[in-house]
Amino acid sequence: MTLAIAETRSTAVPKPAASVPLISMRNIHKSFGSLQALRGASVEVRAGEIVALVGDNGAGKSTLVKVMAGVHSFDSGEYEFGGVPVDIRSPSDATALGIQTVYQDLALCNNLDAVQNLFLGRELTGSGWFGRRIRRAECEVRAREVMARMRLGNLSLTRPVGAMSGGQRQNIAIARSILWKPKVVILDEPTAALSHSAAQQVASLIRSLADDGLGVVVVSHDIHHFVVNATDRIVVMRLGADVAAFRSGEVTGEQVVNAMVGGNEGVNLAG
Ligand SMILES: Nc1ncnc2c1ncn2[C@@H]1O[C@H](COP(=O)(O)OP(=O)(O)OP(=O)(O)O)[C@@H](O)[C@H]1O
Ligand SMILES: [Mg+2]
Repeated sequence: MTLAIAETRSTAVPKPAASVPLISMRNIHKSFGSLQALRGASVEVRAGEIVALVGDNGAGKSTLVKVMAGVHSFDSGEYEFGGVPVDIRSPSDATALGIQTVYQDLALCNNLDAVQNLFLGRELTGSGWFGRRIRRAECEVRAREVMARMRLGNLSLTRPVGAMSGGQRQNIAIARSILWKPKVVILDEPTAALSHSAAQQVASLIRSLADDGLGVVVVSHDIHHFVVNATDRIVVMRLGADVAAFRSGEVTGEQVVNAMVGGNEGVNLAG
């Protein structure tokens, strides 16, 4: 990854930190062979806000967040992190910048418990007499801290996650994403297949991440409940580009759906 500061920026009048988006992607193009998945998509994510990315099947939402997370490279466009152009070529580049992703399949190991899942692949290890061994007790302490901070203290840390409900598993996947103190968390369909009350719990957990100053990006088809009620800004994608934007509190689900299917071209009510 290269982190290059654009030379022209140094002479510009510095803006207050809060006005610089954490992530700014502009005019992103991405093709898979002859298929143009992204044709000029733009999105900004600021600290403390929840941005919903919505659109019909195939609109390019997952492709855009995968570019954001370093899973896919892009063909053209601009990607800035904290106002600085970045060249993210792998998920680990994105992780190093503080971007964490919770994918739809959650990537949890069902036979392992919450602590093991939280630290999967990055366990705290000791290198003493017995060689590298997992410092389970320390992992448990860290896990308890994170779960308490997320008000998930009543979730069992020792039960296999395969025995937990969809909502509990989603919460553990979110807890895992914030373990390493990211700046941005991307969630793909966090409320899909959840009951109304489980979805509300996940929504309040996501709100607490934003309240902690994280930028949150959520891909969601749950327009009428989650998107209009539990996010701050809505970016509508269609045919690989952003075509409308709204402030969540000032729009109905119907208006959002209209924009998704092509009703109101180029609407921008997001201010
Ligand atoms: N790895 C890939 N290889 C080839 N084509 C792809 C790949 N990933 C996505 N596409 C195509 O790019 C377009 C955008 O797909 P994408 O998954 O981003 O849509 P989406 O908005 O997330 O849709 P959904 O709501 O169904 O998840 C689709 O036409 C899809 O078939
Ligand atoms: Mg998708």
